[in-house]
Amino acid sequence: MATKEWKQSINGQTFLISTARDLPHEFVQQAFDNPAMYWAKPISAANMKTLLDNSCTLGLYKLINGDERTPVGMARMITDYVTLAYLTDVYLADEYRSLGLGRWMIHCCREIVQEIPELRFMILLTGSEQAQQLYRRELGMKVMGTEETLAAMGARKAWIPGS
Ligand SMILES: CC(C)(COP(=O)(O)OP(=O)(O)OC[C@H]1O[C@@H](n2cnc3c(N)ncnc32)[C@H](O)[C@@H]1OP(=O)(O)O)[C@@H](O)C(=O)NCCC(=O)NCCS
Repeated sequence: MATKEWKQSINGQTFLISTARDLPHEFVQQAFDNPAMYWAKPISAANMKTLLDNSCTLGLYKLINGDERTPVGMARMITDYVTLAYLTDVYLADEYRSLGLGRWMIHCCREIVQEIPELRFMILLTGSEQAQQLYRRELGMKVMGTEETLAAMGARKAWIPGS
């Protein structure tokens, strides 16, 4: 996919969201180590490269002096760009929360998936009631049960026989 970028100013600060593959690995490692991202943990440098090589990652940057980028947030979609997009690792550094930047990152994810004509599903897992509101509103998502003749199924690594 060609790189996509979005820019906006909030409270006199300018922010950029970019899908360019240059989000510093160190920022992602720090995010994975942050207690707010309780589902993740730091991984080896080699695995970090593999993870980012195989994801559509949106980096959220604060712009300083016009174009100097400081990473402050991220959202990651694991996708084949045709049928499925799995949204995960939505994160914003503490001091940039509640400004609407989280909603903006999700909105940009929506723009990306809207351009995939044969997409079957956009999916995610969340333990946060508050985050559910965001995904309902911005992505039209709902908690899936068996009522629509589809069962959403999943397994943690440890549940997979032989793990
Ligand atoms: C989730 C997160 C990215 C939201 O970013 P944000 O910039 O603070 O959110 P916004 O200001 O854009 O607010 C949008 C919505 O996000 C949701 N939200 C806000 N704070 C949140 C929080 N701490 N946790 C989960 N959702 C939150 C609310 O539903 C909010 O809706 P509102 O407009 O009615 O207030 C940010 O709080 C974060 O990084 N949290 C830690 C990591 C995390 O929980 N990620 C999501 C896991 S599914």
